[in-house]
Amino acid sequence: MADIDPTPSFGEDRSEGISWNELMKLDSKPVPDILTEESYTFRGSDPIPSERYTSPEFAKLERERMWPYVWQFAAREEELNEPGDYVVYENAGRSYLIVRQDDGSVRAMHNVCLHRGRKLRTEDGSADKFTCPFHAFTWNKDGSFDHAPCQWDFPHLAKKNMDLPDAEVARWAGYIFIREEKGGPSLIEYLDPLPEHFKRWRHEECATVLHVAKEVPANWKVVMEAFMEAWHTIVTHPQLLPFTGDSNAAYRTWGDNINVNLTPFGIMSPHIQEGQGEQWIVDEFIKYNGRSSDNYDTSNPMAVTVPEGKTAREALGDKMRQVYTETTGYDHMEATDAEVLDALVYNVFPNFGPWGGFMPNIVYSWFPGKTPDTCVMDVRILARVKKGDPRPNAAPRKFLTLDQKWTEAPELGILADVFEQDMDNLPYVQEGLQASKNREVQLGNYQEIRIRQFQDTLMKYINGELGGWKDK
Ligand code: FES
Ligand SMILES: [Fe+2]
Repeated sequence: MADIDPTPSFGEDRSEGISWNELMKLDSKPVPDILTEESYTFRGSDPIPSERYTSPEFAKLERERMWPYVWQFAAREEELNEPGDYVVYENAGRSYLIVRQDDGSVRAMHNVCLHRGRKLRTEDGSADKFTCPFHAFTWNKDGSFDHAPCQWDFPHLAKKNMDLPDAEVARWAGYIFIREEKGGPSLIEYLDPLPEHFKRWRHEECATVLHVAKEVPANWKVVMEAFMEAWHTIVTHPQLLPFTGDSNAAYRTWGDNINVNLTPFGIMSPHIQEGQGEQWIVDEFIKYNGRSSDNYDTSNPMAVTVPEGKTAREALGDKMRQVYTETTGYDHMEATDAEVLDALVYNVFPNFGPWGGFMPNIVYSWFPGKTPDTCVMDVRILARVKKGDPRPNAAPRKFLTLDQKWTEAPELGILADVFEQDMDNLPYVQEGLQASKNREVQLGNYQEIRIRQFQDTLMKYINGELGGWKDK
């Protein structure tokens, strides 16, 4: 490693080949500041202890000191279109009913019967009252206690508050969040500056058209962090290189909670020595880009012929602006190439990853499993609801178990193959971390800055600098 420059300059897009900001200058349309404003802070280069990924004690600390105090993305509005519609949301040892109320508001109640503890519901559905399947203690859909059979046997409960305990709920852009412990920053403060960035992309006009989750044999942070940098493309997803600027990507962080990886598509990776021209970039893009899957687009709108003198990126951008204007009824003609093509992959601490831009958007979330060695990765595709159409109901979630493959959800199209390539690494990362002799994980200063920020914030909760566990 002697040839690595020990004193790189920080604070600018580092890349091999054209940088993200230089590429934005070539965009067909004026690019909004949110895509070009630099936000990088060097956060040190200390190794991350591998125990954070493997130790049951550390998982317990996360459960006690972090999860109750953070805003958790729990559901989308279109999962609860009608009063009484509810989602069972489970994470980090808790179970909630997220329920649409008559006045359109949303409440989140702990999904545990206050008699002998049965979960009130185990699947999503619609209900006016929640009657426990064990002995029929019953609650109204706002969580207030309704009645119990054989009340003569429970005089000791007569004066007790038997309403279901609730969690805080806040909503933004079609996303419903909950926080177990009340108090702390409002959702909008917590998300800053994400709402400003997503103003143009208006996810409140979108709906979940595809939803697949899978149990994965690795820690939730191992899996999430594999989706926080683009530079593993070079060996993990080599088929993407003809149309992916993997090492042209920009990485940005803001405060404790928000970061992004901006990876351009429609340009060739600097790792490809010799390309075969602009049309080849488009052709490879059509073959291997997950978001052009015809499962949620009946035609393949990206099948364009690159006009003489244009780049693949411009030709794809032109076509997408036109197609999205026609198919959604919203004017997309001023959208930038970046907004209709690229991977604008945001993360919100701790486990929520919505893609920005106007394309059908991927939305990731990751959840700890029962042990530190497993987790659940949840993937949705949001698509814009045609202008004037009512909001459709969300596609139901398909759940894949540990022994199933992503490809058993063929509706994911080519994305499933890309995820399977990631899965070829992740169980072995977990096994390697368990087996590690020096018990250290190293991070790149720039391309892995999102992981560094995430780990820093996590430790602020564990150490009591954030969250309220110390005051309890
Ligand atoms: S456990 Fe729910 S009514 Fe008995
Ligand atoms: Fe990957």
